[in-house]
Amino acid sequence: MNVVAIIVAAGRGSRAGEGVPKQYREIGGKPVLARTLSAFLSHPRVGRVLCAIHPDDRARYDGVAAGLGGLAALLEPVTGGDTRQTSVHRAIETISDNSATICLVHDGARPFIGADVIERAIEACRLYGAAIPGTVVTDTTKRVDADGNVVETLDRTALRAIQTPQAFTLATLLSAHRAAAETGRYDFTDDGHLVEWAGSPVHVFEGDPLNTKVTHASDFVEAERRLGSGAGWVTRVATGFDVHAFAPGDHVWLGGLRIAHDVGVMAHSDGDVVLHALTDALLGTLGEGDIGTHFPPSDPQWKGAASDRFLAFAAEQVRAQGGRIDHLDVTVLCERPKVGPHRDAMRDRIAAIVGVPPRSVSIKATTTERLGFTGRSEGLAAQAAATVRLPE
Ligand code: CTP
Ligand code: MG
Repeated sequence: MNVVAIIVAAGRGSRAGEGVPKQYREIGGKPVLARTLSAFLSHPRVGRVLCAIHPDDRARYDGVAAGLGGLAALLEPVTGGDTRQTSVHRAIETISDNSATICLVHDGARPFIGADVIERAIEACRLYGAAIPGTVVTDTTKRVDADGNVVETLDRTALRAIQTPQAFTLATLLSAHRAAAETGRYDFTDDGHLVEWAGSPVHVFEGDPLNTKVTHASDFVEAERRLGSGAGWVTRVATGFDVHAFAPGDHVWLGGLRIAHDVGVMAHSDGDVVLHALTDALLGTLGEGDIGTHFPPSDPQWKGAASDRFLAFAAEQVRAQGGRIDHLDVTVLCERPKVGPHRDAMRDRIAAIVGVPPRSVSIKATTTERLGFTGRSEGLAAQAAATVRLPE
């Protein structure tokens, strides 16, 4: 699967005040655009990064690009246009790929983009073809008339504040941009709106409240504060542990995978010790009890339940508190089944459930040298550790 990140950075940053355009100003000793480009260049699922720049900024851009490395290729930049929309359009017209290529369109002025949101953008695009990140709106929101008088109060539960990266298949994005250009419309401020206008359904996935855009001069003060010494964040590490006994059967669930085996496990749910240990570890970072607190075994609705929903729930709880999941680490303890052949698939599956890149998930396994209940193959166990950052 091809993924191209298009970073639009051809604006003049007029609202941020005079001087160097905002995307070339430094925060935390590094230009805004360098931070943005690095996030995409270092993402394991992004193959190419293409930037749209203003013709006056060529030397500035070269200065930024010179210091960057990463896994993805940084393509020769394209010259942007007078509006954001034309900048995106010019960039995508240069991509001669098959129509299924995933284009991530991101503002150069959003330097706080995390690997987890990029991951979710790619996954959502695979599922929906057009997907944009949104965050819930916490303030009461009203529509007003030209004089500032309230017309109506909106139902904020149905509202989302939209960010970038916005993800589309190349075919969808290109045809929408061409259609808009043909009708002489150049005023769409985001691609989600444009694609929606062109008639394609657009899905909203979970964004990140920290993925803000630097727009005004005051945003630079806030950005510096955020980067300075990690202030405002606390790192929490917590562990989880789970055991299930073997029982007659022909498969076990492990790390969200169904693995054929000569026995099954005795459990109320699907008995996936890996996902259960991870769920407890994540809940532990929040001090929010354990899996049984939220999904009591006495409740018949969890009988035979697939454990991915428990883990997805725990990840949502972290995000609901404004947290970020930095890393998940698991050790499986059993003589059999062998975990090695399933390690990569397990990693990908857990990453998809939690919404983090696979490199943020580690799977290890050990036998217990024929000692104890795992050694006697009476059951299997997993222990997990989760590292998250939470707002202080
Ligand atoms: N952008 C672009 N081409 C344009 C206008 C905007 O590539 N003709 C990019 C900007 O560089 C920015 C992103 O689109 O990364 C979001 O736009 P915005 O925040 O409005 O940036 P500016 O247009 O530069 O700022 P301002 O509107 O304050 O002038
Ligand atoms: Mg603008």
